[in-house]
Amino acid sequence: MKFLIHTYGCQMNVRDSEAVEAMLLAAGHEKAVSEDDADAVIINSCTVRQKAEEKAIGKAGNMIASRKITGLMGCAVKRLGEDVFKRLPGLDFAVAPRAFGLIPKIVSSLESSVSRCAPRASGQEHGCSGEETLSPPPGTRNRRHATRILELGDDLVPGSMAAHCAGGFQAFVTVLLGCDNRCSYCIVPDVRGHEYSRPAKEIIAEIEALARHGVKEVTLLGQSVLRYGIRNDCGLPKTAEPFPFLLRQIAGIDGIERIRFTSAHPKGVTDELLQVWRDCPKVCRHLHLPVQSGSDRILAAMGRRYTRAEYLESVSRLRELDPEFAVTTDVIVGYPGETHDDFEQTRSLMQEAGFDNSFVFKYSPRPGTRSALLPDDVTTEEKERRNQTLLADQETRGLERNSRLVGTIREVLAEGTSKRNPERWSGRDGGNRIVVWDRRQGERGARLGEAVKIRIAQAHAQILIGEAAR
Ligand code: 5AD
Ligand code: SF4
Repeated sequence: MKFLIHTYGCQMNVRDSEAVEAMLLAAGHEKAVSEDDADAVIINSCTVRQKAEEKAIGKAGNMIASRKITGLMGCAVKRLGEDVFKRLPGLDFAVAPRAFGLIPKIVSSLESSVSRCAPRASGQEHGCSGEETLSPPPGTRNRRHATRILELGDDLVPGSMAAHCAGGFQAFVTVLLGCDNRCSYCIVPDVRGHEYSRPAKEIIAEIEALARHGVKEVTLLGQSVLRYGIRNDCGLPKTAEPFPFLLRQIAGIDGIERIRFTSAHPKGVTDELLQVWRDCPKVCRHLHLPVQSGSDRILAAMGRRYTRAEYLESVSRLRELDPEFAVTTDVIVGYPGETHDDFEQTRSLMQEAGFDNSFVFKYSPRPGTRSALLPDDVTTEEKERRNQTLLADQETRGLERNSRLVGTIREVLAEGTSKRNPERWSGRDGGNRIVVWDRRQGERGARLGEAVKIRIAQAHAQILIGEAAR
C-alpha cells in the first residue's frame, strides 16, 4: 500500500510519525510521493489548543472526501475516543499516541480487505462485493465502508519506539513518554498518559545504532525531559540523578557529535545538570524552558510549581555558565483572569531572561483540564494584542541577542541549502540559532551534516548570516 503521513503538533508527534513510517516501510509498504499517489493517508493530530485539533481533523476530513483510506493517530484521538467517528464519518482507523505501534498491522489488514473489494462506484451505498480483486484507480478510495478501528490503549508494541528511517544525520529519540505535571491548562497528561521513562539500555543501544548509520546529532524528547528516570526505574545507578547520568552515557558514544533535549522545567536545572554542560562539549548549550507566565499569581493558578524569581534564577545559572547560553521559551497569553498587570509582568520577565527565541500561544480552554472550569475572560482581541506585543518585543530582543555574536566564530552543522537562497547553506549552531552562509565555488551538497566554523557577519532577529572561517 502507498501511504503518506501528515504531522501536526510538536516534535513528539514528528518522532512518532517517523517511527510509523519506518515500521510501514519495514512491513513492505511504500511511501507515496504525493497525496494523489497515496492509497492511504495518516494524519498525526495535536490537541494542545482547539485550533490545532481543528486543523488535523479538517485535513482528515479532506482526505476522507477525496476517497483516500484515512487514518487518524495522535493526541486528538485519545481526547475524542469513540466520538472521533462522529467528528469524522468515513474515518477508517484511529490510534492514540501510545498505541501507534499497532498501525502497521492495521494498514496491512486494510490492504488485504481492500484487495478483496471492488472499487466504490458513486451512488453505491453498501457492502463489499465479495471476492473481486479489481485494482482501483490510483489514489481512489476503494471500499464502501469505513473500517472504524479504534485503538486507545497504552501498550507499547515492543521495538516500535526504536524504529527509525535510515539516512539522516539528525534523529529524535523519545526518552520519556507522557507527563505527570498536571498544569491546569494542559491536556497532554490526559492524552499522552503517565510519565514512563524508557530503559536507559534501550536508549543507549538505539543511539549507538543511529551513530553507526551516520547520525551525528540526537535530540532527546520528553514533555518534561529532565524528569527522566524519576517515576519509574530506568536501570541507571540509584546514586546519580538519572537525566544528567544518561546525558554522560550518550556523550560517550562514538560518532555522536551533538546532543540536544527538550522540553525542560526549571526544577530540573540542577547542579548535576550544569556540571554536564561544563564537562561534555557535545551537549548543546541551549535549553527550551517554557515559562508560560511572568506573574506569580498566574504561575500559581497554572500549577507551575515555581515562582518568577526561581525561574529567573535558573536562567541566571545557565548564563553564568556561558553568557551565550541560548534560552528559549513558551508563553501563554490570556489565561483566565490574566490582568494587564499580570501581562506586563510576563513582558518584563521575558526581557530580564533575555530569551533568544520565544513561542507565544493564546490561551485555549481544553475540555477536562482544571482551567477549563474557569471563565475564559480575556477577549480574543486582547489575546491577539498581547500576542503581537510579545512577538514585537521578541524581534527587538532577538536582534539584540544575536548582534552580540557578530564577529565571533560559531560551529554550525550544515543542514542543507537555505530555503530563501539556494546559493547559501543553512544550519544551526549549538544554541539552535539558524545560521546561513555562502557556498564556496564549485561546492554541491558535499558537506551535508558536516560541522563547519562560521564567522558571523550579520545578525537578524531569527537568523545569523556569516561566512566559512578559514
Ligand atoms: N492554551 C494555549 N496554549 C497552551 N499550551 C499548552 N496548553 C495550552 C492551552 N490550553 C502551550 C504551552 C506549551 C506549548 C506546547 O503549548 O505554552 O508549552
Ligand atoms: Fe500537541 Fe501536546 Fe500532543 Fe505534542 S503532546 S502533539 S503539543 S497535544
